[in-house]
Amino acid sequence: MSEPLLVYYSSESLNTLRFVDKLGFRSLRIPISPKSPELKVDEEFILICPTFAAHDGRGAVPKQVIKFLNDSQHRDLLKGVIANGNRNFGEYFGYAGTVIAKKCNVPLLYKFELMGTSEDIENVRRGVCSFWRTFNKKNTHDVCYA
Ligand SMILES: Cc1cc2nc3c(=O)[nH]c(=O)nc-3n(C[C@H](O)[C@H](O)[C@H](O)COP(=O)(O)O)c2cc1C
Repeated sequence: MSEPLLVYYSSESLNTLRFVDKLGFRSLRIPISPKSPELKVDEEFILICPTFAAHDGRGAVPKQVIKFLNDSQHRDLLKGVIANGNRNFGEYFGYAGTVIAKKCNVPLLYKFELMGTSEDIENVRRGVCSFWRTFNKKNTHDVCYA
């Protein structure tokens, strides 16, 4: 369990997928289609989740992510959340992260817009590495500073 693991959801617009690909960490995608086999995770992870809210903030967390987090093992293994969205949504920018952090009692680590900037990539790469070390005593040197 020395390398950070990211679990993420991404809709057909694929912004989150592109962001996760650029980070270069191990990652698993929560499937879009209910017909796909369900994702089961059995080690600690950080969740990256886009926001799809109505104008009052309701429905911010995609239903596929809600289903994934309804599994108590997944909630136990969830260590932190990163949210993405669009600043056009004002106070509800990245609101899925706020909702998940509160419901699952984990820190909201970062918010980024759409597929993120190169600065976001650097911030998240560095932040994930240092956060991972706070609950994983193993040496993550190779992964984080290669
Ligand atoms: C119907 C719809 C509702 C959205 N609602 C919000 C919102 O409430 N807050 C926000 O920050 N972004 C919102 N977004 C923007 C998405 O979160 C953003 O485009 C995100 O990057 C999508 O990630 P994905 O392409 O990986 O699915 C919304 C997008 C759509 C299409």
